[in-house]
Amino acid sequence: MAETVSVQLTVNGQRREGRCETRKLLVDFLREDLGLTGTHVGCEHGICGACTILLDGEAARSCIMLAVQGEGAELRKIEGLMENGKLHPLQEAFHEHHGLQCGFCTPGMLMTALDFLRVKPEPTEAEIREGISAVLCRCTGYQGIINAVKAAAPVMRGS
Ligand code: FES
Ligand code: FES
Repeated sequence: MAETVSVQLTVNGQRREGRCETRKLLVDFLREDLGLTGTHVGCEHGICGACTILLDGEAARSCIMLAVQGEGAELRKIEGLMENGKLHPLQEAFHEHHGLQCGFCTPGMLMTALDFLRVKPEPTEAEIREGISAVLCRCTGYQGIINAVKAAAPVMRGS
């Protein structure tokens, strides 16, 4: 049987620990070992952005990292966006502006938009287009997503 190692990290403010093989991808560890299936996995080679999480505050693709590389890290994932039973302003805006259809890209899109608005709190539409181009969406044609990020920006600046 393959040898396993312990991986300890913080996810959405909670200390979590699991055991896995050293070759295991971070996204698979989060989904399979910690049961946090909110983060989706698509291409598994860093292209589609579905697996995007915040790692120590910055957007990262969890499918091109090993779980062991996450040791000691602070992760923020889609399950932690909603607070006190209230949707995050970005989630509200995606809902209101039709920023999703099937929802497959949505967790990665939201985490990418969250990081984007941290870096660029007052973006132009062109900057939003570029910022969210890191995540592929097969359904929406992107306009609803762009409108949602634009609408969420002033709300987030005020909060
Ligand atoms: S699943 Fe990670 S970038 Fe596509
Ligand atoms: S909403 Fe279906 S892939 Fe984006």
